[in-house]
Amino acid sequence: MRELVGPTDPEAFDQPAGEPVFPTIAAEQYAFVFDFGCGCGRVARKLALAAAPMPDRYVGIDLHRGMIQWANENLAPQLPQFSFAHHNVFNGGFNPDPQLPLAAPFPVDSASVTLLIAWSVFTHLTQSQAEYYLDEVARVLRPNGVMVASWFLFDKAHFPMMHDFQNALYINDTDVTNAVIFDRQWLLATLEARDLRIRAVTPPEIRGFQWVTEIVPGRGSISLPSDDAPFGRMPPPVGATAPHEIR
Ligand SMILES: C[S@@+](CC[C@H](N)C(=O)[O-])C[C@H]1O[C@@H](n2cnc3c(N)ncnc32)[C@H](O)[C@@H]1O
Repeated sequence: MRELVGPTDPEAFDQPAGEPVFPTIAAEQYAFVFDFGCGCGRVARKLALAAAPMPDRYVGIDLHRGMIQWANENLAPQLPQFSFAHHNVFNGGFNPDPQLPLAAPFPVDSASVTLLIAWSVFTHLTQSQAEYYLDEVARVLRPNGVMVASWFLFDKAHFPMMHDFQNALYINDTDVTNAVIFDRQWLLATLEARDLRIRAVTPPEIRGFQWVTEIVPGRGSISLPSDDAPFGRMPPPVGATAPHEIR
C-alpha cells in the first residue's frame, strides 16, 4: 500500500519527534479535518503521532477500497475521532469498474470543514475532475477553513498548440490519472471563479515536482514564484499489476 501512495520510506509515515505535521496551520483549524485521497492513512497516522494539534474530528476518503479497509481495521480502532470512507468513483488502476461515476460529492456537510488536506491528489485528477472537486472544496470549507493541497504545475505559455479549454498535461496513455500537471494560470483563474484564493505557496524542492498551497475562501491569490529548484528525479514506485485487488 505504501508503494501505491508513493513514498515507501517509513519516515514518510511517521512523526517521531512529534512536531506538527502542518507547522503553518493554526491549532484551531484542526476542529474538523477532511482528508481527500487519504490513501492508507499516511497523513492520518502522522497527525495521530504528532504531539499536537490532534484533530477533534477526522474523516478520510479514498477510492481504493483495500486501503480504506486497512485504515478502518488498523488505525480507526485506536483513534475514535478518526474515520475512513470509501469514495466509490472510477479510477482505471485503483477502482476500475466502468459503471462508476468519474466524480461524486464529498460526504460531508457544506461549510463544515476547517482543514481540508489534498496531499498528492489533484496531481491525479483530470481537468474536469479537478474543477468538480474544487467546486466541492468551495462548498465544504468553513469561511475560516483552509485547504492544504499539492499540485504539479506548468506554464502553458510554453505550449502554443493548447486551446483555451486545454489546461492539463497527462503523462500516461493507459491511465491518464497517473500524473496530471496543470497550467499555473488555470489554477489561479479556476480558484478565483470559485471564490477561493492561494494565501501561501511553497515551490517544489525538485524542479517540476509538488507545489504546496494553502487555499482559503476569498479572492486575490498571491502570485506564484518561478520554479528555480534544482533538477532531479522523483518517479513513484512502479505499481503492482492489479492494484485494486490489494487488501
Ligand atoms: C499519491 S496518493 C496520496 C495519498 C495520501 N494523500 C498520502 O499523502 O499518502 C493519491 C491518492 O489519491 C486517491 N485518489 C485519487 N483520486 C481520487 C478521487 N477522485 N477520490 C478519492 N481518492 C482519490 C488515490 O486512490 C490515492 O490513494
